[in-house]
Amino acid sequence: MHILLTGGAGFIGSNFVHLLLKLRPTYRITNLDVLTYSGNLENLRGLEKDPRYTFVKGDITDEKTVMPLIESCDAIVHMAAESHVDRSILDSRPFVMTNVIGTQTLLDAARRAQSKNGGGAWMKNNRFVYVSTDEVYGSLPLENPELKFKETTPLETNSPYSASKAGGDLLARAYHHTFHMDVVTTRCSNNFGPFQFPEKVIPLFVTNLIEGKQVPLYGDGKNVRDWIHVDDHCEGVLTALEKGKAGEVYNFGGNNERSNLELTHEILRLMGKGHDSIKPVADRPGHDRRYAIDCTKALRELNWKPTRSAWPQALADTINWYKNNEAWWRSVKSGAYRDYYTKQYGGR
Ligand code: NAD
Ligand code: TYD
Repeated sequence: MHILLTGGAGFIGSNFVHLLLKLRPTYRITNLDVLTYSGNLENLRGLEKDPRYTFVKGDITDEKTVMPLIESCDAIVHMAAESHVDRSILDSRPFVMTNVIGTQTLLDAARRAQSKNGGGAWMKNNRFVYVSTDEVYGSLPLENPELKFKETTPLETNSPYSASKAGGDLLARAYHHTFHMDVVTTRCSNNFGPFQFPEKVIPLFVTNLIEGKQVPLYGDGKNVRDWIHVDDHCEGVLTALEKGKAGEVYNFGGNNERSNLELTHEILRLMGKGHDSIKPVADRPGHDRRYAIDCTKALRELNWKPTRSAWPQALADTINWYKNNEAWWRSVKSGAYRDYYTKQYGGR
């Protein structure tokens, strides 16, 4: 099996590459990534000489780049995206370009591609996995803890990020319905783990605390996220690729709901810091209140369940990874990141 992975130099993509080469030693993987601020080849260090792995620098919106790559592979796992809600509030255009136009470019190239070895239309035999997000479902109220997102929950996006991901998600659905393309969609909750860009809350808070800074907690801190370890998500994507049914959507979550205040207190406790490290700041505009995932379908149909997401151990291991890999995040934090934070917060 030869997989074309898009966005493999990012957080989830690079963890997917490492996991895949470990779990499926006979697979090959081509990583197509344009290396935006969040793409980092350091995440893949050591793989340069692995004959099973190839890196191609290129943009998913460029049809000339993607077509030959699709024609030489047996499946597409599409993860490339602009991924941060706060950035989408500052400027939504790159989100539409990559998450909507990029996804449309890939789907359309896959529709028209020919298989290697003269096997006819590529899409006749090969699968396209679209890695979506639970954020396409919108927001749940705090008052009804029994409510969770199911695959059948209507899409009700609230941020430019989630709207652009839903654009890709609906295009993927449409290409299955209209052209009978073998498309499987995954929708996962908030990931944590190694190599996450320190704009997302966990690596931002952990690295700020190592630097002796405060952590900016939005609003009243009561917003809830369901935290899943990135390896559980990556295994879910692999299972969906191998066992999912064409045209189906699969939710993945960690069964690990926490308010941001609970998350922050847990990080402070594990890092031996006091509550004076919390800096309450203005809320994010349009901030979704609660995400919660019902992943019984993945359990039932894919025999998947999260096995590495349980706290406090998984969170403590992640904190230790950032403690032990200071060079990685310090170099990341001193580059494009700084420009962004200066623009958004005046450099806090
Ligand atoms: P990330 O920002 O860390 O990585 C995104 C990668 O995509 C980067 O390597 C970047 O260079 C690449 N990329 C961006 N635009 C590109 C383009 N036009 N062409 C080629 N490459 C491009 O993001 P992540 O957190 O690893 O998320 C990966 C995927 O998983 C995204 O599709 C995201 O929507 C989805 N997802 C993320 C989470 C989460 O908690 N992080 C949860 C559910 C779903
Ligand atoms: P984030 O990691 O940006 O992921 P998402 O917005 O996709 O869920 O944020 C997770 C939660 O943490 C979200 O409710 C917003 C909150 N948050 C803060 O309180 N402070 C911060 O500095 C950031 C980045 C996020």
